[in-house]
Amino acid sequence: MKIIEVTGGRALSGSVRIQGSKNAVLPMLAASILTEQKTILTNCPHIQDVYTMLDLLKEIGCRVKFENHVIEIDPSVITACEIKQESARSVRSSVMLLGSLLGRLQRAKLPYPGGCVIGKRPINIHMEMLEKMGVVFEKGKESFTACSNGLKGAELVFYTKSVGAAENCILAAALAQGVTRLKGVAIEPEIMELCSFLRKMGAVILRTDYDEFLIKGVKRLRGVEFRVPPDRIVAGTYMLAAAALRSEIYLEDVPFAQMQSLFSLLKKMGATLECRQDGVLLQGKDAHCAVPYIRTANYPGFPTDLQSQFAAVMTVADGSSVIEETIFEARYKTVLELKKMGADMRVKGRRLYINPVHHLIGAQVKAEELRGGAALVIAGLMAQGKTEILNCHFIERGYEDIVGDFKMLGSTISWK
Ligand code: EPU
Repeated sequence: MKIIEVTGGRALSGSVRIQGSKNAVLPMLAASILTEQKTILTNCPHIQDVYTMLDLLKEIGCRVKFENHVIEIDPSVITACEIKQESARSVRSSVMLLGSLLGRLQRAKLPYPGGCVIGKRPINIHMEMLEKMGVVFEKGKESFTACSNGLKGAELVFYTKSVGAAENCILAAALAQGVTRLKGVAIEPEIMELCSFLRKMGAVILRTDYDEFLIKGVKRLRGVEFRVPPDRIVAGTYMLAAAALRSEIYLEDVPFAQMQSLFSLLKKMGATLECRQDGVLLQGKDAHCAVPYIRTANYPGFPTDLQSQFAAVMTVADGSSVIEETIFEARYKTVLELKKMGADMRVKGRRLYINPVHHLIGAQVKAEELRGGAALVIAGLMAQGKTEILNCHFIERGYEDIVGDFKMLGSTISWK
């Protein structure tokens, strides 16, 4: 079992570089099979979810190389349209291959991406939207088949925002016959990045309104080289840690234009931020104020992927806070672990009530999922004494080197 050991209480200082974005690179990997030519992605994070996605690409016949943050994919020969691997159930992004396999081969057979501790995570919206494009689904117990006699452009109105469903429809529409209009669609930065990547490949994608895209299907796409943008959630995690420890740190390669909701929270806490050309300087010496109420929301709202980390920081703020999770129905699993460290928190429905305590106390705790695991690292850094975090393979799904990064910032943290 992977265990991280942290001795808390040390302020952070210095600088680290932010890794490439997990949620941006995963749909780009799926998109790479929409062409027969080679794709090169730079600034890719060496994280478990990327390795899993590359295994899935290999399973369908792609040749893949991943070294020093550069991924090369040769999708010239796709030998299968079926994913059988058990690992496909463990990553949500396996479902992204649905849109791209349909685009390339008009057929896909995939296992359902597993539900996980943050919520049920069904794929009904993906299916409903793709059906409008002429896809017929056969739903089995463990897996499903999708096929079409040629994807057709359609009018897709999203009654609920879904990042993954938007990405799947964009992937499918890129090579579809005719025009697809997506209305009421999520506009997370990772969706925008996927569109930029596809445009470079030759796709015709216009943003016609705030939450509306028009995609004119093309006959073929070309292989390109593209730099994966930095990860806003990793940057946000490190900023919250610095604020919690009243520290000054410099983070290089931060997508600050995408992080305004977090920045306004950090400012409410008392932190100051200075955005420079190549990064952000965060001064957290006065970041002790509680933020009384915050709700997670689709972009540009406060991201659900920073909710647990923010909750950890609020456990010792000067005042009470209430967090409302509106995206995933079960994203408070980390609360039980934080309580083992002395936090005073109570979950009621979608709301989390936090009464501050003077300090957290080191304890043995267990990561239940990726972002909750990162929250426990922050809690360990804040706590008095030693914290042992079990199940850290979850953290490795999305953070390339959280231990190395915090060590670089002066923390007493190591793998056990
Ligand atoms: N939903 C449905 N039906 C669907 C699709 C979604 O009911 O067909 C529901 C979900 O159950 C959830 C909500 O809609 O309650 C939003 O889900 P969404 O589809 O937007 O999320 P996702 O595409 O599955 C991506 C990220 C998540 C991130 C969410 C929200 C990737 C690989 N994953 O998931 O990232 O939290 O968007 O921003 O891009 C993470 O990185 O830790 C992570 C969980």
